[in-house]
Amino acid sequence: MQALFLAGGKGTRLYPLTYGIPKPMVPIMGCPLLEHNMNILKLYGIKDIILSVCYKSAYIKNYFGNGSAFGLNLKYVEEDSPLGTGGAIKNCERYLKDTFFIFNSDILSNINYYEMLNYHNKQKAAVTIAVTRVDNPSSYGVINFDKHGYATSFCEKPSADNITSHFINAGVYIFNAKVLQEIPAGKNVSIEKEIFPKLLAEGQKIAVYKGCNYWLDIGTLEKYVQANQDGFIGKLFLPNMNFRQQSIYSQPNTKISKSVILRGPVYIGENVQIQANTVIGPRVILGNNTVIGKGSNISDSILWNRIQVKNEIKIDRCIITDESIVKNASHNNIITPESTRPI
Ligand code: GTP
Repeated sequence: MQALFLAGGKGTRLYPLTYGIPKPMVPIMGCPLLEHNMNILKLYGIKDIILSVCYKSAYIKNYFGNGSAFGLNLKYVEEDSPLGTGGAIKNCERYLKDTFFIFNSDILSNINYYEMLNYHNKQKAAVTIAVTRVDNPSSYGVINFDKHGYATSFCEKPSADNITSHFINAGVYIFNAKVLQEIPAGKNVSIEKEIFPKLLAEGQKIAVYKGCNYWLDIGTLEKYVQANQDGFIGKLFLPNMNFRQQSIYSQPNTKISKSVILRGPVYIGENVQIQANTVIGPRVILGNNTVIGKGSNISDSILWNRIQVKNEIKIDRCIITDESIVKNASHNNIITPESTRPI
């Protein structure tokens, strides 16, 4: 079985986090989102993965390479300019065969992919779309469906007085390869707005799968913070990490002074140094190769990689991106190497 990740979007709603890195690579609990999602696929024996990349593609390629270090077989298909979700899928046609999964790369979900595939086969559908129920669907793609589990219509981002369903497109699909014939080549096409409605109009079967146990789209800052918080309360499914069972996770080669107080839940990445008389936690993520100076106090914050926090600095409710140097106390801010701004 193959999987295709759509990983080429600009991630503008997540600025400034995505100035330097593509959205699929933002860290969740110290590990890139895309890596978490690929680790989950490995649990299902899916190792042949195609990455459709565009915005900051080099970052993704440099990190994963050909995938062998991750136990995966990766292929990249690059766009010179964005082709949209449908155009990007069509662009990968040469690698896709039979039946395959497609994922948006900005979601965290807990879906039983075996069950979803069985459902797709049972429904004899051309496409199966995973759907999830949300209270307010107005910023999502809403799907209406019949009692047999087949889509009947789609509505992108409905206004409050036009909400006909609370089930939304979860950005996880199973496609039969013949559907690719329906997508024009070399054009910017939206799978959600153009191709799915076209398939319905032609009378093709689009099944909806309602088996999302957890689902979050990390497309906005608010949701990005929520994803990490959900990790701390064990709501988020992360292979190898469950904060309900353990409150401090520490990777190899850390140097933590004896006088440091760790108030879980706390995640500490590789090669992190925490100097004397520091208080870390609760709900703090320290990414790899980070140094926390003496007497500092960090709570409710997400620190990415290669960060220096100087001595005696208080940090609360901040997101700090790669290579930042923090010299001043900070509360409720996003700190990047270039600037600091409120969340
Ligand atoms: P925003 O700019 O914040 O809307 O984010 P985005 O550009 O990522 O768009 P959106 O959230 O709608 O994208 C959903 C998924 O499709 C994400 O995983 C994107 O990486 C991916 N995606 C969106 N547009 C393209 C594209 O033109 N090419 C490719 N390869 N992937 C895309």
